[in-house]
Amino acid sequence: MPYKEEIDINRIPKHVAIIMDGNGRWAKQRGHERSFGHQAGAETVHIIAEEAARLGVKYLTLYTFSTENWNRPANEIAAIMALLFDSIEEEIFMKNNISFRIIGDLDMIPKDVRNSLNHCIERTSTNTGMCLVLALSYSSRWEITETTKQIAKEVQQGKLSIDQITDECIASHLATNFMPDPDLLIRTGGELRLSNYLMWQCAYSVTLLLRNFLAGFQRRRISESNL
Ligand code: FPP
Repeated sequence: MPYKEEIDINRIPKHVAIIMDGNGRWAKQRGHERSFGHQAGAETVHIIAEEAARLGVKYLTLYTFSTENWNRPANEIAAIMALLFDSIEEEIFMKNNISFRIIGDLDMIPKDVRNSLNHCIERTSTNTGMCLVLALSYSSRWEITETTKQIAKEVQQGKLSIDQITDECIASHLATNFMPDPDLLIRTGGELRLSNYLMWQCAYSVTLLLRNFLAGFQRRRISESNL
């Protein structure tokens, strides 16, 4: 049965979060550089984003580059940054009424990439359909540390009392404070770990593990034999 017929349109998750790994391994297994896998992954991001928006998903949050990913070889980091610069096409967002946001330590991102991402955030800010969120230079421990510092500062300044530090208060200080927690977490590389991704927010999320999905998806559509 085609997958579209299997989808219950009344039970579409509001927020889907994806850990987009397995691209590098997928490319290596086929004798390519890891960046080839990231390129295939980026192409798949477009397909998934358009389809999720069409189905009525409200938030799609993609773990695009973790704090730990800064330890990768310089050429791989450069290839991912170049991909971000080239693949964030504002017209696709506008055509699909998608708004764009980022969570993470943007100061770490090269200036030209950051400027182009910020431009897309501003241009799409009034779009009313799905919100595509990239977690960039992001990790939960970074986010929780920043949140803790901010809350401590507010207590020190007398703006907040210790008794006011509740679950809701913490959630409202997290980088994700503009969206609900994920209903569904998908990990594409087949690993079982949460890997420092939305650890607070995924406390109750349903988890789906897929192997070689992201990079493999688009290439399978084109034809495996061409690789
Ligand atoms: C982690 O796993 C994945 C990354 C470091 C990069 C993912 C980035 C993209 C797919 C490009 C994103 C582009 C847009 C437009 C959002 P890995 O694939 O290196 O994993 P592996 O080592 O598990 O194979």
